[in-house]
Order: sequence, then C-alpha cells, then structure tokens
Amino acid sequence: MSKLTRASAYPFTGGQPPLPPSGHRTVPSQDDIIGFYRTHERVGWSLTQFLDIPWTEIEVERLSPADVQVVETTMLVESNNPDYVANLIAYFAADQDVCDFIMMWGIEEWKHYYALRDYLTKVRTAIAAKGRGALDAGEQGRLLTIEASVRSTLGEDVSAVRDASTENWGLPAHYLPAQIVASTTVQEFVTAEFYRNHARHTREPVLARIETLLAKDETRHEMFYEQKTKDCLETDPALMPMVIDSLKEFGMPGAYLLDDYGARREAMEQAAFPTLADKKRAFVRLFSKMTRVIGRDNAMRVFTEGNYLSDGVDDPSGKKMKPELITRLLTRRLG
Ligand SMILES: [Fe+2]
Ligand SMILES: [Fe+2]
Repeated sequence: MSKLTRASAYPFTGGQPPLPPSGHRTVPSQDDIIGFYRTHERVGWSLTQFLDIPWTEIEVERLSPADVQVVETTMLVESNNPDYVANLIAYFAADQDVCDFIMMWGIEEWKHYYALRDYLTKVRTAIAAKGRGALDAGEQGRLLTIEASVRSTLGEDVSAVRDASTENWGLPAHYLPAQIVASTTVQEFVTAEFYRNHARHTREPVLARIETLLAKDETRHEMFYEQKTKDCLETDPALMPMVIDSLKEFGMPGAYLLDDYGARREAMEQAAFPTLADKKRAFVRLFSKMTRVIGRDNAMRVFTEGNYLSDGVDDPSGKKMKPELITRLLTRRLG
C-alpha cells in the first residue's frame, strides 16, 4: 500500500477564514461528560474476553473474502487512533469538556482497533492450521488468498496508514467547532450502521459478536457529538449554513487513508448492505439522522447539493442526488 497525500479540498467551506484556537469551543456541559462516562462504565465490554478466545473457535470456513476485507479495512482505519486523538485534543485545547470526552473516546476506539487486530491474527493462525489438513484445491486456494491478504495488512499496511494519517488527518483549521462535531456525528453514525449491518450478514459468529459491540460504542459516540452539534446550533442559529456546507463535503476517513479505498468500499458496502432493500433502508436511516440534527429541508439540501455520491470530494461528472429520488426512497415501502 502506498502512502497517500490528501487530495480532497474543501469545495464548500474552503473560503472560510481560519479561526483562532481560542474560538475552538462548543457549549460547555460537564453533565454530558459525566453522562457519557456513566454509560461507558455501565455498558462497557471487556476486551480481555475477546483476547482470550482461542483461535480454534474462529470458524474460518464461514468467512468470506469480503468479511476479511471488512475487518482489514476497519482495523486499518481504527488503527489511527493516536492521530485522531492528538488532532482533536490540539483542535479543542480551549474546550476542557470536549478534551475530557476525547480521552474516554480514545480508549474505546483503541479497543476497536485491538479487537479487530487480534481477530485477524487468529484468522491467520486458523487458516495456517487448516492449510496443513486435507482440503480440496478450491478451498485451499480460497484460504491462501485470505491468508496472504491478512499477512500484508498486519505487516506493512498498518504503518503505511499511520503515515498517511499523520499527514492527512489534520482537522481543517478553518472548520468551526460546530462543523467538526456535525461531521463527526455523521462519521460515527455511518460507522455504527456499517458494523451493525455487517454483523447481521457475516456467517462467522465471533466476528458478528465483535461488530455488534463496536456498533454500540459508535452509537454512543455519535449521540455525544449529535448533542454537541445541537447545542452549538441552538446557541447560535446563524451557524446553520456553515454546518450544512461542511456536511455537503463530508467523506469517510478511509477515503483519504487507504489508496485502494474505492475497491474496498464497494466490497464492504456489498457485504454489509447486500440487497437493494438494505441499501434503501441505510439511506433512509442516514437521512432521518441528518433530519434530527439539522431539520428536514436542510437535510434535503445536504444530499441534493452536496457531494454525497462522491465521498465528499468534487466529482467532475457532477453526480448529485435528485430530490425526487430522495422522496421516493423515503416514502416507498421497503421490501
Ligand atoms: Fe471505532
Ligand atoms: Fe467511534
């Protein structure tokens, strides 16, 4: 995997003047922090319980190559935690409450990375053991392909992605705090939806268990950021147009961390949302989330005027969602 340098500009917010670091604050609320911590303690899960699962329990014959690609890609994106934390703490240095939250958030995201990494290591061991048994040529070939991919991910790819992350994951200095927390809400929401849906579709039970727990954490992250976004907008409604602009250029972090993200994204979407009904349902849920944060008319603007179909970046073909399509998706009964 080669090192990426961030190609995406900020087509909708690029003209905003940078904000001094002292302005990087949300609306203070210690109750939110304590609330988050209480839930963290109440619903927190034990990483040890997964680390202690023997590799013999992983049912590799039930794993598809797409499942493995899902684990590799999410593990690579989750592996950038130290950079996310460093950037967020630096950006929000003037906002003690958000910094306190980031400390707790960081440990949860680190657990995600480690659970996935440990899982991949066990998959590799299990495949190596299976390969020594009597298998037909087709099954042997399939397992060897998975094994080669896992080996390269665990080897060079983690450091390549860390390199790309240090260079590319700076929070844009011109983003207002409301824009940061709004984008992060969507990012955590999409991640939660992805894990939850993939957990329903994979046939490998240990992976399904891991992803179900990860999804619950991501949902709590998303709820925290959503509250911050709402607080900012309530205190200063004039921020709304800027928040809409940042959502129009929203893209998932994988897009600028992984150079083969396009192919990975397709395989992952297929694995988590295999049918047309799954895809429609996913869009409807994202649209409803957007509506809860910024209102229905503004959500409509984000999807029809923004770069939703091209991962946040300007697409020369100018692909946009049509309002009629959205209305159809929202109103037609799903199969
Ligand atoms: Fe995560
Ligand atoms: Fe998260």
